[in-house]
Amino acid sequence: MYTFTDRGDRSLTLRPEMTASVVRAFIEHNLGGQSLPVKLYYFGNMFRYERPQAGRYREFWQLGVESLGSPEPAADAEVITLAVKYIQDTGIQKATLLLGSMGDEQCRPAFIRGLVDDLSSRSELLCDDCRPRLEFNPLRVFDCKNPGCRAALVDAPKMVDHLCAECNDHFDQVKRLLDDVGVVYQVDPMLVRGFDYYTRTTFELTSDELGAQNALGGGGRYDRLVADYGGKPTPAVGFALGVERLLLAVEALGEGDNIEKPYTGVYIAVVEDDARSLAFKLATELRSAGFSVELDHMARSLRAQMKSTDRLGASTVVVIGPDELSKGEVTVRNLADGTESAVALADLAGHLGAVRNDNKKV
Ligand code: HAM
Repeated sequence: MYTFTDRGDRSLTLRPEMTASVVRAFIEHNLGGQSLPVKLYYFGNMFRYERPQAGRYREFWQLGVESLGSPEPAADAEVITLAVKYIQDTGIQKATLLLGSMGDEQCRPAFIRGLVDDLSSRSELLCDDCRPRLEFNPLRVFDCKNPGCRAALVDAPKMVDHLCAECNDHFDQVKRLLDDVGVVYQVDPMLVRGFDYYTRTTFELTSDELGAQNALGGGGRYDRLVADYGGKPTPAVGFALGVERLLLAVEALGEGDNIEKPYTGVYIAVVEDDARSLAFKLATELRSAGFSVELDHMARSLRAQMKSTDRLGASTVVVIGPDELSKGEVTVRNLADGTESAVALADLAGHLGAVRNDNKKV
């Protein structure tokens, strides 16, 4: 946790994630009073006091969804499918979906007792961090990368093999629904997520392009959290993706270029200084009409203005030259293909709108 004391001697902690905050808001604003499930999303910065390294930061961004209200395996499958689809849509094709189940209050306590017994019999293999974990958080041993701990875990019991009948059935149904829609996954018996609130389904999306910090995102079901926070018992499932890691993976695959470039707007260039007030007027009108517009405020030459279009990523340039202006026209140049056309000033917004609709890359 990123915890510090402020000037008023209060202990403050920056949010490490959003699921708990969403649950708090769900209860506080009585969102459960409407038709369930309630589906929410968020995009925001999170803070964790981690040792910074490639792909792991103390401030990072997450985008996530939470679906609150349904205990059905279909809600899990829907949320997982959305995460997979989102990652695919960014251009990353080689992500792996790891799937697990944490069981519930029926089967997990007995499993943990069995795990502690088993690992205690081989405790000499465990690292100094994990030996005490046997007492207060034995599941976290599954997260440890230490070779001794990995060796101790090979023959240790795994939660997915010790699910009660209900959890096993739930897990089977989630898998079947994912199979039905062609979502490929690997059941990972060692998958343990870093939060205590999970019940039943857990999942993580990893990319080989990312090195040690290879999780693009993760999530799972948390059927007890709303009740633990004092709300009416409400099952829920969600995920969060790490935005910086998504960007790193897209960059590593060199697939950023394949993503359709968004519409980037219009640059208004003037040939002569006395057209600058008209440029400002046109820019204001076009901005009101919903265009993203830039123009020069640095008394640059036409050449320098044209150079700016590149830096600003404009895709259309409107050139106001004296000859065209005497006819009440401007020149519109499409920077993607170099074509130019003379457009009457009165038709400019209509013309740019038509080009934009025709070709989203304008
Ligand atoms: P999480 O696995 O802790 O899950 O975080 C989700 C993603 O955030 C990670 O897979 C990773 O991409 C990114 N991330 C986490 N820590 C860092 C960091 N220090 N630097 C950069 N990126 C990071 C959660 O936060 C849960 N709240 C997900 C969830 C939603 N479960 C149910 N609903």
